[in-house]
Amino acid sequence: MAVPGPGYSITMRVAAPPSASAAGDLTTAVGQAGGVITAFDVVESAAGLMVVDLSANALSESHAEAITAAVNAMPGVTVRKVSDRTFLVHLGGKIEVTSKVPLRNRDDLSRAYTPGVARVCQAIAENPEDARRLTIKRNTVAVVTDGSAVLGLGNIGPAAALPVMEGKAALFKKFAGVDAWPVCLDTQDTEEIIRTVQLLAPVYGGINLEDIAAPRCFEIERRLRELLDIPVFHDDQHGTAIVVVAALRNALRVVGKDITDCRIVVSGVGAAGNAIINLLLLQQPGEIVACDIAGVVYDGRPGMDPNLAAVAARTNRAGLQGTVHDAIVGADVFIGVSAPNVINGADVAAMAKGAVVFALANPDPEIDPLEAQQYAAVVATGRSDFPNQINNVLAFPGVFRGLLDAQARHITDEMLVAAAHAISDVVAPDQLNASYIVPSVFDEKVATAVARAIVQASGMGRTGGGAKESAALSSAVS
Ligand SMILES: NC(=O)c1ccc[n+]([C@@H]2O[C@H](COP(=O)([O-])OP(=O)(O)OC[C@H]3O[C@@H](n4cnc5c(N)ncnc54)[C@H](O)[C@@H]3O)[C@@H](O)[C@H]2O)c1
Repeated sequence: MAVPGPGYSITMRVAAPPSASAAGDLTTAVGQAGGVITAFDVVESAAGLMVVDLSANALSESHAEAITAAVNAMPGVTVRKVSDRTFLVHLGGKIEVTSKVPLRNRDDLSRAYTPGVARVCQAIAENPEDARRLTIKRNTVAVVTDGSAVLGLGNIGPAAALPVMEGKAALFKKFAGVDAWPVCLDTQDTEEIIRTVQLLAPVYGGINLEDIAAPRCFEIERRLRELLDIPVFHDDQHGTAIVVVAALRNALRVVGKDITDCRIVVSGVGAAGNAIINLLLLQQPGEIVACDIAGVVYDGRPGMDPNLAAVAARTNRAGLQGTVHDAIVGADVFIGVSAPNVINGADVAAMAKGAVVFALANPDPEIDPLEAQQYAAVVATGRSDFPNQINNVLAFPGVFRGLLDAQARHITDEMLVAAAHAISDVVAPDQLNASYIVPSVFDEKVATAVARAIVQASGMGRTGGGAKESAALSSAVS
């Protein structure tokens, strides 16, 4: 059940007759229309009039309009202007470039720019490795998208994807001090994307692929990893997988089960489901059964693409066929990265005792979390208005902080697993319970712990670390 939240937040500038009850009448009108008042500021006051800014959270744009209409309908009250606070935050964009060096006089200019900069250019030309020491490459990540699978909005294109990529860049900076820059490409051609990222790679210490639709994202990532000497990470795949494995590790601690004994059903074998399955397989689970829109994935199922066939070959040893409703019977864990309302309460009731349900489809999960809570021991969603939010921001800032600090050239399985364990271990044993299996996204210990784990897994800063190339990353077949 949705509740009014800051995503639909408005500020109404309201002119009203001043009276002892004016403030109460206005806030009551908003409340009766279902809005939640967040601020009440008087901006102008005169003998016969007061002007206030009334801020409120709503459920949707139409609900915000209904709240405004309710206030406007009050006797003697006029709503002069309505500002959408989410749009206000985006005016002019959310990030900027600032200079780290002083540019006060001719001396400063001569060092930061010509003629001094020429000597630094020559040093890099002679020793390209110096680029990591003497340029922004050391701390900069490209957030690359083609706009083809943006949030739950689908293929909205590169310009419309930019607010998401700006937000991502802001999160990189806030949580891990990483300078990330949006690179929204005006093409959805696999070869053009690969070539373009290859051409712009010299500036960056890492590539974060974002919101690129499956199955194209698998080939783009695999080919770029072959071509580039900097790490390439698709957050929708591996960021999700890291946080899911972290959360599952703690959920299984809560219910007292070992993953090697668990039967896990994964609904959805797209970008997220694929990576989750690949990372889970490294934990030697008892069994994984994958399901997609066509039902249970099994070896030999007609019409599978190579990617799905690779999943079928590595899961469902019993060769189960049927629907997710068949697969979930007796399962210990359900992980949904598919679509709304794929399972129901009866399905969760049919799971093993101490069931764990991660219903992560956004914005509407595979099952209403309140319904799942009636039968499952631990429930997680992708939503911020329920406990146990599976949020990629727990992983990607620290992952790239660690990769940049280690000057890593590749991402390895060891790094992905280490990052997952680091996140789960931020939750101390005395904090762990069914409603707290992942730390808060605002817990400052998370990014530091993840970065440290990545650096250690990289072989303490050795480039490439000698560690083998990630099987979890490379097992996605183009
Ligand atoms: N942290 C999070 O909470 C988080 C992270 C990643 C993805 N997600 C969510 O997971 C979902 C999938 O994301 P994705 O990027 O992998 O998408 P995707 O399009 O790459 O894959 C979707 C998969 O779901 C399957 N599917 C679609 N409808 C289905 C149905 N009715 N029943 C069963 N399977 C169905 C498809 O066959 C496909 O395998 C989205 O809702 C996304 O928002 C959440």
